[in-house]
Amino acid sequence: MCGIFAYLNYNVGRERRYVLEVLLNGLRRLEYRGYDSAGIAIDSDLTLEAQNENGKCKPYHSSSPLVFRQEGKIESLVTSVYSAVDKLDLDLEKLFLVHAGIAHTRWATHGVPAPKNSHPQSSGEFDEFLVVHNGIITNYEVLKQTLVRQGFKFESDTDTEVIPKLAKFVFDQARDGEGGVTFSQVVMEVMRQLEGAYALIFKSPHYPNELIACKRGSTLILGVNELGGETSRHLFHDVKALTANEKPKELFFSSDLCAIVEHTKNYAAIEDNEIVHIKDGSVSILRFDNEKEMPASVQRALSVLEMEVEQIKKGDFDHFMKKEIHEQPGSLTTSMRGRLKNGIVVLGGLKDHMRTIRRSRRIIFIGCGTSYHAALAARPIMEELTDVPVTMEIASDMLDRKALIFKEDTAVFVSQSGETADTLHALEYALENGALCLGVTNTVGSTLARKTHCGVHINAGCEIGVASTKAYTCQIVVMVMIALAIGSDKLSTLAKREAIIAGLTKLPEQVRDVLKLDDEMKVLAQSLIDEQSLLMFGRGNNYATALEGALKVKEVALMHSEGMLAGEMKHGPLALVDEHLPIIVIATQDDSFSKQQSVIQQLHARKGRLIVMCSKGDASLVCPDGRSRVIEVPQVVDCLQPIINIIPLQLLAYHLTVLRGYDVDQPRNLAKSVTTQ
Ligand code: F6R
Repeated sequence: MCGIFAYLNYNVGRERRYVLEVLLNGLRRLEYRGYDSAGIAIDSDLTLEAQNENGKCKPYHSSSPLVFRQEGKIESLVTSVYSAVDKLDLDLEKLFLVHAGIAHTRWATHGVPAPKNSHPQSSGEFDEFLVVHNGIITNYEVLKQTLVRQGFKFESDTDTEVIPKLAKFVFDQARDGEGGVTFSQVVMEVMRQLEGAYALIFKSPHYPNELIACKRGSTLILGVNELGGETSRHLFHDVKALTANEKPKELFFSSDLCAIVEHTKNYAAIEDNEIVHIKDGSVSILRFDNEKEMPASVQRALSVLEMEVEQIKKGDFDHFMKKEIHEQPGSLTTSMRGRLKNGIVVLGGLKDHMRTIRRSRRIIFIGCGTSYHAALAARPIMEELTDVPVTMEIASDMLDRKALIFKEDTAVFVSQSGETADTLHALEYALENGALCLGVTNTVGSTLARKTHCGVHINAGCEIGVASTKAYTCQIVVMVMIALAIGSDKLSTLAKREAIIAGLTKLPEQVRDVLKLDDEMKVLAQSLIDEQSLLMFGRGNNYATALEGALKVKEVALMHSEGMLAGEMKHGPLALVDEHLPIIVIATQDDSFSKQQSVIQQLHARKGRLIVMCSKGDASLVCPDGRSRVIEVPQVVDCLQPIINIIPLQLLAYHLTVLRGYDVDQPRNLAKSVTTQ
């Protein structure tokens, strides 16, 4: 996944913000989406002169852009931009006059991280068309061959480079013919030829004071600052509908809301096949259909962003992961807010489909990584309360196998971002097969939210640390609530449902309690920093906890770690056990407690080096001879215990990472959401 961002300002007088600062800051907010390389392009008359003096390019148009691309994290780009500003002796005061720029932060898919593969990608000499792109172009090879035959020379290894080159090709062809071509006509023709998923922002010196953004598949947000007059809540397709004093003062494009929240609360989520054309500060949105010659104009109401700036800042914490772990009492409260009324679960997003869900032949949970684990944690209670069999599918595996799915199935798609490619492809597959598709996501307006028949937002708040923490626990809570809602017509489970609802009410407080283990987990991490490997054994409700705890350790602390089903231990993994290999056994109170006690005994008999997680007061039960280290956690109703139990493991992974000296929020090779298959 990459991040794209653009900033435009008009008529802002003294309040004008420095475009470079806004762009670079926008990239800092989006950096969690990808951090291999980054780049920006800004308009400027004077930059052209500077480039000429430097012998870099000839004047093409009075506002030829200045482009920077840099391998590495955003701060490397920042350094290179400002050192270039110094070197070229650019007048920062004059740069202040620049009013538009585009920016990109990259997670490499096609081509290694390198300046040539960074965005903006260019049409070639003079940067006649520049493009930043989030997504993937699946037919780029065919397009590239065609363009090469037309004399285009490719410099990067990216799929994106075909886009600006195609734009130039379309532009040149139209220019050679009769009459001119508008910027949106060029972009529309490019869109006609592209296959894949994308959000794109185009700039071209052929169209000074214009900028175009469009999308198909990937998310694109338009932020609007200060519209005046009666039109303040709407963006009109017709440029004339906005009079001069009704033009927005500032406009932003972004891959997500995190990068605009500090500037404005007014936004519009751009829909697939829409082109947003900014010209001299006026906004027009065109709906584009491949088949139609004439695009339809769109009027769009602005939404108000329900997010606070604090959510995207670290506050007193050193890292987002730590902040997000500690935010869990609050995020769980928000997840449940308005949904538990007088002992009844109310999920507005499901009410029209409840009958169909209850009559399903099967519920299938589908997701990847942490989201899959959250679904696995909710599976036992979903089966217990609904009496509907629940099967689990990792999205990529489901597609590899072309797993059987029927129209009588309810397919539950779980995804924090709502943009994970594997999950979205599985969703398309389930829709094609006629299943009822239900989404559980943190991202309002995401593809998952839009394409499923119904769903529930988890409302965990913006999660910036690449390792998912608060989204995981909120996903479990939401799926428990879904199970309660589906099973609410069953008398046989009434007592259990009442116990769960009572448990949900107390949960945030108990999470606050377990967070007090922070220092203890740091001490434990200290004792494990030099280990090669760490195993985690769980079962039943907490099999998912073992998998998720191990995933956290491997992805951020870069230590090998495996979560295992304790019942499988004697069928192979037992061979690994000796006095050196650390093993965490999850043995909190529930129906599988006695089986876990027996696992502990078997491990002791092999001199295993154990760390046992148990319910408060059970230390002597799980470790009668006092030989193992014990993590005591509050006991809660069984289906909520995975929420409590994961927290010490999240803290452990965090401290291990810091102590081992790795990057907590931006682990090696990862990105927040994976938009490629
Ligand atoms: C791990 C992690 C990933 C994601 C996975 C799916 O901490 O975050 O395993 O859970 O890539 O992402 P979403 O939930 O956005 O579909």
